[in-house]
Amino acid sequence: MELFEKQTIGGLTLANRLVKSATLENMATPDGLPTRQTARFYDRLARGESGLIITGYAYVHPSGRSYPLQHRADSDAMIECWRPVVDAVHEHGSRIALQIVHGGRQCRPGRDGQTLLAPSRVPNLVYFSLPRKMTIDEITRTIRDFGAAAGRAREAGFDAVQIHAAHGYLISGFLSPLTNRRRDEWGGDPERRSRFLTEVFRAVRSTVGDDFPVLAKMNIHDFAPFGLTPAGSFPAARRLARLGLDALEISGGLMENPLAMSRGDAPTEVLNRGRRLPARVYFSSCLAFMRLFLPFRENYFQDYAARLKPDLPIPLILVGGVRSVRGAGQVLRSGTADLVSLARPLIREPGLPKKWREGTAERASCTSCNRCLGEVEQGGRLACYRDTGSRRP
Ligand SMILES: Cc1cc2nc3c(=O)[nH]c(=O)nc-3n(C[C@H](O)[C@H](O)[C@H](O)COP(=O)(O)O)c2cc1C
Repeated sequence: MELFEKQTIGGLTLANRLVKSATLENMATPDGLPTRQTARFYDRLARGESGLIITGYAYVHPSGRSYPLQHRADSDAMIECWRPVVDAVHEHGSRIALQIVHGGRQCRPGRDGQTLLAPSRVPNLVYFSLPRKMTIDEITRTIRDFGAAAGRAREAGFDAVQIHAAHGYLISGFLSPLTNRRRDEWGGDPERRSRFLTEVFRAVRSTVGDDFPVLAKMNIHDFAPFGLTPAGSFPAARRLARLGLDALEISGGLMENPLAMSRGDAPTEVLNRGRRLPARVYFSSCLAFMRLFLPFRENYFQDYAARLKPDLPIPLILVGGVRSVRGAGQVLRSGTADLVSLARPLIREPGLPKKWREGTAERASCTSCNRCLGEVEQGGRLACYRDTGSRRP
């Protein structure tokens, strides 16, 4: 069956076409290094037979760190610590990529007096914070930081890196006309707004070399007024492919509309925990609105993939609502995507790919309740919280 055929990404052969999409783990030490929990999490996924595992986003510079227990990629200290995790994944026949990010205007404000960096001064409506417009020096330094982080991933034994250019974080912020109001060479039209991503890609490629797979995850649509749409994202994706990107995973949404990225229920009581009344009212109404206009359906970015795929000369990875063998098989058979990627279902059932291969399950048991998303956003450890409420499973 198509799902269990081998697939090559930039010279890397994967045992099947099932990808574990990146999910923030909140499992690192306070210094950002992988722990035993991190190792156990990835060991389970590898035993469960995901062909490619993509880690949660690791920050390339402290100014781009979003959570206290997020993994780091900005220091050589990570190299030796990740090696045993990576080796264990390889022993089970899976491959693993490190996702690298700068959080930009979506970092939590106030931590260690951290200044929020962004292409322009556009407020964050989740944290009610205002970032600072990056200087040209900061832009060029951050591009170098991405390159250095990718080099560390390679040294640590990872099989690939994935550049996080989705969900409103720094690179996605540059791509979006909503958050990039610059009129210099880094903004003003779609091509200049995509320049930051292009330069990050070039820096990464020149550090890791041509024989190391470089992937990107990119918003195809922000689903926000004045945000990025396919008119800007498709040309940016094709430009990256021409420059030598090895595979593209498409997604959508920003921190302000998380249900665009991870469609399903709105765990309002989790997301509102610890917030003041005006913020709670604001979030509850926004989330209800999003649920109505961006409802869950299987393979929910499928139509965008079908439109992009004909002109994309590299493997396309479809994420978002992949829940059944039949649905995933149909995506691959129709040529809409080359690989399918799952996040929430594999948090709940890391062994799902194996079950699908053996024919002992047809559907994921994940109901997209989004409690995992709510708890992680509150700083909790990544896990499925559906059956346990807010208690750690
Ligand atoms: C708890 C949680 C953490 C996430 N963390 C990341 C992340 O670190 N990087 C990323 O690109 N996407 C992240 N995502 C988005 C997922 O990778 C995926 O794009 C989205 O959940 C839709 O896929 P699904 O329907 O299979 O869950 C996260 C989603 C969840 C639920």
